[in-house]
Amino acid sequence: MRALVVTRGAEPAAALVEVPDPVVGAGQVLVAVHYSSLNFKDALALGGRPGVVRAERLIAGIDLVGEVAASGTDGVAVGDRVLVNGCGLGETRDGGLAEFALVPGDAVVPVPAAFTLRQAAAIGTAGYTAQLAVTTLDDAPEEGPIAVSGARGGVGSIAIALLARAGREVVAVTRDPSAVDDLRRLGVERAIRLDEARGSGRALDSELWAGAVDNLGGAVLAGLIAATRYDGVVASCGMAADAGLATTVMPFILRGVRLVGINSVLTPRARRIAAWERLARELDPAVLEGLVDEVPLAEAPQVAARLLSGEHRGRTVVDVRR
Ligand SMILES: NC(=O)c1ccc[n+]([C@@H]2O[C@H](COP(=O)([O-])OP(=O)(O)OC[C@H]3O[C@@H](n4cnc5c(N)ncnc54)[C@H](OP(=O)(O)O)[C@@H]3O)[C@@H](O)[C@H]2O)c1
Repeated sequence: MRALVVTRGAEPAAALVEVPDPVVGAGQVLVAVHYSSLNFKDALALGGRPGVVRAERLIAGIDLVGEVAASGTDGVAVGDRVLVNGCGLGETRDGGLAEFALVPGDAVVPVPAAFTLRQAAAIGTAGYTAQLAVTTLDDAPEEGPIAVSGARGGVGSIAIALLARAGREVVAVTRDPSAVDDLRRLGVERAIRLDEARGSGRALDSELWAGAVDNLGGAVLAGLIAATRYDGVVASCGMAADAGLATTVMPFILRGVRLVGINSVLTPRARRIAAWERLARELDPAVLEGLVDEVPLAEAPQVAARLLSGEHRGRTVVDVRR
């Protein structure tokens, strides 16, 4: 089968090669992959950056969507439409950027009937992470706007669509607020620049946000926390700008702000299935169409480079059979 393999120390790090077809064993599922997608982590892996691939040589791709080709797992049958997000794919085990993938039986999630396989790939880890983050905001105050940073990225765009659909006022935090028209189509009320979101740098700013979904980390996350109102919830998803966080305990002890970490990789299966079922109920697939483009397997590394340079928008689906 064809696969995009990342080799430590190679230049370029990723190569499209032929590898032996995997063979299913007990407790495993062999998936005929139709689509993968490109997330920030895939970009790091395909670009040869350290920290994602923890093997000398591995098939990349943290997402896959396809049909079961062979099953060694009770309750998973040949022909089932399945998806896998995270679970070590493309990090510690061979991932989804290949024609077939061998995955643990407890990693597979049924593709909800509401979505085509391509739509499920367009959602991918980014959309499922957005859903995990938005679910934590169920506990945020009902009054007041929600800030979403990294707004034009995969997690940000889908979080905006979900929050707007739930009737929340959403404010986008983006490097380019002039792109507000694109963001309005997703349901954003207005867009602000990063320095506005960073705020004054004081421990407590005026109470603006009922909650936030942060994809950037660093000073933006600190600023969002400082400007979150009493009992608000901030979901920390990513570090596209900065892995640091300089804040004080003041927002937590004086305003009861809750900072919630989101980890899509380790989420137990029952919560994965619940997140996908909620996506099926609450995400309008039509919203996805404006966000998605599609490339063949061989072009994934070029898209990854755009993700790393911050030029990429929305979601890219990879048709691994092309
Ligand atoms: N916790 C988890 O389980 C989990 C799961 C998925 C992703 N993540 C993380 O969440 C983050 C977003 O992922 P994604 O897939 O949405 O990535 P993405 O599609 O590349 O989007 C990231 C967005 O962040 C903004 N951005 C990028 N580089 C920036 C920089 N240097 N400074 C300021 N803003 C920058 C851009 O938004 P604008 O163009 O609007 O400025 C960009 O569209 C990443 O850090 C990713 O690793 C975490």
